[in-house]
Amino acid sequence: MQQEIDPTKIPAGVVGLGLMGCSITACLLMAGHKVTAVAPVSADMEHALGRIKNHLMRSHHEGLTEYTHEILLANVLITEDYEKLKGCRLVIECTLENPDIKKAVYKKIEQVIEPDAILTSNTSAIPISILQKYTQHPERFLGLHWAEPSHTTRFLEIICGELSDVSKGEYLYAVSHFWGKEPTLVRKDIRGFITNRLMYAMYREAFYLVENGYATVEDVDRACRNNAGYWMTLVGVFRWMDLTGVPAYHNVLKDLFPTLNNSTEIPKLIDDIVKEGGKGVANAKGFYDYTPEEAKLWEETFTEFSYDIRRLALKYPADVVKKKLGK
Ligand SMILES: NC(=O)c1ccc[n+]([C@@H]2O[C@H](COP(=O)([O-])OP(=O)(O)OC[C@H]3O[C@@H](n4cnc5c(N)ncnc54)[C@H](O)[C@@H]3O)[C@@H](O)[C@H]2O)c1
Repeated sequence: MQQEIDPTKIPAGVVGLGLMGCSITACLLMAGHKVTAVAPVSADMEHALGRIKNHLMRSHHEGLTEYTHEILLANVLITEDYEKLKGCRLVIECTLENPDIKKAVYKKIEQVIEPDAILTSNTSAIPISILQKYTQHPERFLGLHWAEPSHTTRFLEIICGELSDVSKGEYLYAVSHFWGKEPTLVRKDIRGFITNRLMYAMYREAFYLVENGYATVEDVDRACRNNAGYWMTLVGVFRWMDLTGVPAYHNVLKDLFPTLNNSTEIPKLIDDIVKEGGKGVANAKGFYDYTPEEAKLWEETFTEFSYDIRRLALKYPADVVKKKLGK
């Protein structure tokens, strides 16, 4: 029953229509799913349709889908009624990063969907092994970790908790190719999954360098953009070491590793910003200060860039060399 991988035959649900719920909905619609998009809070009803429509219009304009937003929107139902999830074979929970909220939401979802429908969470960092214990059928519960904007990014982590049925993870892995993803299947749960473990190791070191006066925020950002930023869309860390000579890394590790930061404290730099109410571009106050006009332009520039880098990523998929060899 669960083996159907044609999106047009897999009715899907998205619960939570904030930033990510809207872009995930747009992604699923473009892949051909019928989507029931549930707004757990009334505020979602005010912006969800507009946001999803904007994503679809821009995606059509950029060539991500041949269908216009009018055609695609005919396949979505935006509702506050959980009952409408009935019949969904896959539900993606996308509510605030708060275990109590997620737990209450799973209860409502599970009252409606079939016991063998797949239930997933877009949690950034709550272990799937913990979340699945809040559900009646933990074996059908997995993590589906998207990256914003979900309809343009190639990233997707599929995470199995301790009690998840790994074959359902393999199934989602297959289906997610229809969503334009180059997915990673995390077969064993670990806090932060794969990508946040990698990224937070880098964030910690970035804070260390700035807080200890080695470089400014601007300098760290420039180094990151122009080093990692130049190769990461083509290769990951291991292929990068292969490309540039493995022994050199072996040499450096020995002396560099002992000097890297391994603090477990929250860095003061970010703590001060958050305590003062800074959110980043969203309220024009973060590691940089922005005028309202600059903040808006950064958001627009990020959107524009996400379509551009998607084109580059599609030109250089993970199996680019195999393809060149006709394999
Ligand atoms: N923003 C990102 O880049 C990103 C990336 C990966 C994963 N995530 C994860 O996705 C999830 C949603 O993040 P977001 O960025 O879309 O957040 P958001 O703040 O834009 O949206 C949160 C949504 O949660 C729901 N919600 C709020 N209060 C609720 C309540 N009391 N009961 C039920 N639902 C409620 C609403 O639908 C609201 O729109 C989080 O778990 C987050 O960690 C976010």
